[in-house]
Amino acid sequence: MTPLRTERLLLAPLDAGDRDAFVAYRRDPDVARWQSWTPDFSADDAGRLLEGQPAGFPPPAGEWLQIAVRDAASGALLGDVAVHTSADQPDTYEVGVTVAVEHQRRGIAGEALGAVVAALFDHHKAHRVTATSDQKNTAVARLLTALGFRHEGRAVEADWFKGEWTTLDSWAILARER
Ligand SMILES: CC(C)(COP(=O)(O)OP(=O)(O)OC[C@H]1O[C@@H](n2cnc3c(N)ncnc32)[C@H](O)[C@@H]1OP(=O)(O)O)[C@@H](O)C(=O)NCCC(=O)NCCS
Repeated sequence: MTPLRTERLLLAPLDAGDRDAFVAYRRDPDVARWQSWTPDFSADDAGRLLEGQPAGFPPPAGEWLQIAVRDAASGALLGDVAVHTSADQPDTYEVGVTVAVEHQRRGIAGEALGAVVAALFDHHKAHRVTATSDQKNTAVARLLTALGFRHEGRAVEADWFKGEWTTLDSWAILARER
């Protein structure tokens, strides 16, 4: 993957050198609450994930790629953007984003996810990019709305997630909507 640069950030695949910072923010309960992992996410879990990363961007059909979001000046890991290539539909991707709590509310997620979505549409002929969120997650709803995602569905109490029925919002943006 050719690194993506924005005003403040450098985006490139997560690598072994990111492991400790990656584990630190994944173990934060305020981050893990909204994601598929739990606060006991370990260095071994991270090692397996990093070793299994696909090489290219976008990743092969059916696979996820975790892209490191780094401070362009210091190189510090601030979070990551995840991209999944649909195995069922051509030119269709799903995205997710995580920012370490100490770096949240500075527009980092917007800048990083915006750059990845732009790369998918502008350089990889994406037709549709989607995201899914927990209805209670107001931060990600605001983020996706600001990036131009359309709220296209709500599955009410559809997912038994971390001990409760969770309502899922689905979001999408099409190439022709940009
Ligand atoms: C969602 C998340 C990625 C946002 O990261 P961020 O860098 O703080 O986001 P930004 O600073 O770019 O802000 C994006 C929008 O979210 C809003 N926002 C950020 N944190 C918020 C919070 N805790 N509560 C309410 N709104 C919040 C911002 O105000 C902004 O909205 P606006 O443009 O209408 O003002 C971050 O909170 C996070 O990593 N959360 C845990 C993991 C997660 O929920 N990931 C998404 C799963 S799909």
